[in-house]
Parts: sequence; structure tokens; C-alpha cells
Amino acid sequence: MSTEDKKQRAAREALKWLNDARVIGVGTGSTVNHFIAALKDMRGRLDGAVSSSTASTQRLKAMGIPVLDLNAAGELPVYVDGADEANRHLQLIKGGGGALTREKIVAAVSKRFVCIVDDSKLVQVLGGFPLPVEVIPMARSHVARELVKLGGRPDWRQGFVTDNGNIILDVHGLSIMDPPRLESEINQITGVVCVGIFAHRPADVLLVGESNGVRTLSG
Ligand code: A5P
Repeated sequence: MSTEDKKQRAAREALKWLNDARVIGVGTGSTVNHFIAALKDMRGRLDGAVSSSTASTQRLKAMGIPVLDLNAAGELPVYVDGADEANRHLQLIKGGGGALTREKIVAAVSKRFVCIVDDSKLVQVLGGFPLPVEVIPMARSHVARELVKLGGRPDWRQGFVTDNGNIILDVHGLSIMDPPRLESEINQITGVVCVGIFAHRPADVLLVGESNGVRTLSG
């Protein structure tokens, strides 16, 4: 079975976790794109969605699903999003698509965070995937030097600007043994907008698409 098929399996399974939610949070990425496509049959039951990126907003609107402002929507019952890596504690690395800041905001205001991945994303130790860090452009060199002190090799994602007008440093070579601690340390660096470790607010449910079906891990 292909990776895309596994992503699609996880994405379809996420529909079961929406229950009777009228407004949902929707993340970003190729796995979420399968989820947005699967929302086709739910359109009448949803008042709208809060989106974590311009890309997902466009897809949701194309499906006929109203996109709501988070400040007007308030707390959300459920948020569905992908991840670049996940461990068994449901801690994640996110931001491969560069939408990490908005994703972290939507996760923070959501009661339940349902994360959808294919089985290649499940790891023992986070950090094999280069860790995305969103940075204010004028602080790029300073933040990069501080990340080197933490043992990483930051790489400026060339030609990429986030939806918030910032840049991304992808940090290679980290073996993240204590995700909440590193999340806090990187958050403390002046000029950092957001780090792609989701450990202080991990997923509540992880749906892992596999050849045999979908494995459900919950916190
Ligand atoms: C977007 O910024 C990311 O956090 C995505 O959720 C993550 O990169 C997963 O993307 P895929 O579903 O495309 O692998």
C-alpha cells in the first residue's frame, strides 16, 4: 500500500472523531488535504472551519466550507492536523509545510487535537526530521547561533516566507530526548516566533495509517 493510501486511511478515520462538532480546526499538509477532501460528505453538518494556513483555507472554500476567524470562533471542540514526526507520547514535530505558528495557535484553543499520520512518521526519538523554527527575519543570524549552541545545525529554508511574513530555520542533527524542555529552551531565544516541537500541547489522539488499517494511540 502506498504512503498516500495510508495517509488517506488516517484522514478518513479522523471523521469519526468529529462527533457533533459544528466548527472544527483544520491543519495543513498532504495528509490534511485528504481530510479536507473527505469532509465533502459532512458539509451540511458543519457551520465552518478555522484554518491554519492560506493553502488549507483555499481548499476548504473550494469544498464550500466557510472559513471562520479564530477570534470569532472561540474555543474549538476538535482540531485535525498532520505531523512530520510523532512519538508514543503523542509529542510531535510539525512545520514541514511552514505553518507551525498558526497550527500551534489552533491546537492551543482546541479541546481535542486529533493527529493523522502514515506509519513512516512514528519514531522512537524526535529529531530525525529537521526541526522547523519560525524566526523574525532580522533575528536570523542570532537565532541560528543560539541553535548551534543547543547542538543543532540550522539551515535557512531558502525562498520561503511564512504566512506571517517570517523565515524558517530547519534544524538538523538534534536527537530530542526531552521534547518539552527543548521546546521551552528554543521558545526563550529572542527572535523565535515558534518552534515546531508540539510537546507542551501534544496530540490527544494519534491515528496512524498502516497497511492493515488504522492504529489509534491516545494520551
Ligand atoms: C505543516 O506546517 C506541517 O506541520 C504539516 O502538518 C506536516 O508537515 C505534515 O505534512 P504532510 O501531511 O504533508 O506530511
